[in-house]
Amino acid sequence: MSQRIAVIPGDGIGCEVTAAARTVLDTVCRRHGIELSYDEYDWSCERYLRAGAMMPADGLDVLRPYDAILLGAVGAPGVPDHVSLWGLLIPIRRAFRQYVNVRPVRVFEGVDSPVRGARAGEVDFVVVRENVEGEYSEIGGRLGRGHPEEMAVQESVFTRAGVSRIADYAFELARTRRRHVTSATKSNGIVHTMPFWDEVVTERAAAFPDVRWRSEHIDAVAAKFVLQPGSFDVVVASNLFGDILSDLAAAVAGSIGIAPSGNLDPTGAHPSMFEPVHGSAPDIAGKGVANPIGAVWSAAMMLEHLGHAAAARGVLAAMEATLREPGTRTRDLGGTADTAEVTAALVDHVAG
Ligand code: NAI
Ligand code: MG
Repeated sequence: MSQRIAVIPGDGIGCEVTAAARTVLDTVCRRHGIELSYDEYDWSCERYLRAGAMMPADGLDVLRPYDAILLGAVGAPGVPDHVSLWGLLIPIRRAFRQYVNVRPVRVFEGVDSPVRGARAGEVDFVVVRENVEGEYSEIGGRLGRGHPEEMAVQESVFTRAGVSRIADYAFELARTRRRHVTSATKSNGIVHTMPFWDEVVTERAAAFPDVRWRSEHIDAVAAKFVLQPGSFDVVVASNLFGDILSDLAAAVAGSIGIAPSGNLDPTGAHPSMFEPVHGSAPDIAGKGVANPIGAVWSAAMMLEHLGHAAAARGVLAAMEATLREPGTRTRDLGGTADTAEVTAALVDHVAG
């Protein structure tokens, strides 16, 4: 029986890179005898401008039965970014309890990192971000609007269940890699939630005696991403810290155009969602020059999540080969290739 994928290309280059990812998926699935079926949804800012909402009222129910969601990017000039975020991405992440946001970071051969010490083959780590609670809570409010005493309060929410499960995910992931976890904290300055985070991570770490770990303040972790990016394996962080660290990590890797992400419900009770880190890039949309690698790598993560590890490895190998060749790199990587040329190269490598 085929696994069912909901595809949401979104806006701008989201549509271009999703089409490229679909092409690569078709090839790799044919080669590995994998059956995926797709339904495409036009949920986007473009839909918001036309119909008044990013997705239909029953959108979450429509997505619920799928095995996974493949998303491009949403965002358009003229639509405030919080509308696209809170109208589509955040409802999906929260309704489907996608409590893990995982972002692998690698410096590939052929990709110049802006960080001098970050050499290909030496930088290979994963940022595991808590994705449904923490600093991004809806608890709080505004008072005294327009008056001199105007104020805003937003509460961070950390639960034992929430911190435990993200820590467990990070330690389990480390077991499949180099067995090292860095927990990003700030318990010197944030005196309630962060000591609690530290306590729960320490408790969970005890269940993984075969994994080494250390706790480090977020500011020190940020500096080390630049100074010693090769020293990390798995980095686990709260929602806000993980958001910032993962963008920094993507920059260290050389281009936002290659960075992938997965929003996971590791229990499998709900569909997980895979999307490139970048946005809809209105500045290059419609020109056919977007780097499709971030979307393709996200699709490879989806394959792995769906139990197709060999196919996922095949896509990774094709990415490595494509990036190694100067002729098949896009402009964001200093090359001249367009989206179609990179996609064709990926397909060639995947087909073997
Ligand atoms: P962006 O990621 O869209 O673009 C930032 C810069 O990187 C631009 O110069 C763009 O041309 C370049 N870039 C991004 N992806 C690229 C690719 N695949 N190949 C080559 N170059 C690439 O971020 P920006 O400009 O801040 O946001 C644009 C819109 O996208 C906004 O509406 C924003 O809200 C939305 N956005 C959506 C996200 C999502 O759907 N998850 C994530 C980030 C932004
Ligand atoms: Mg971000």
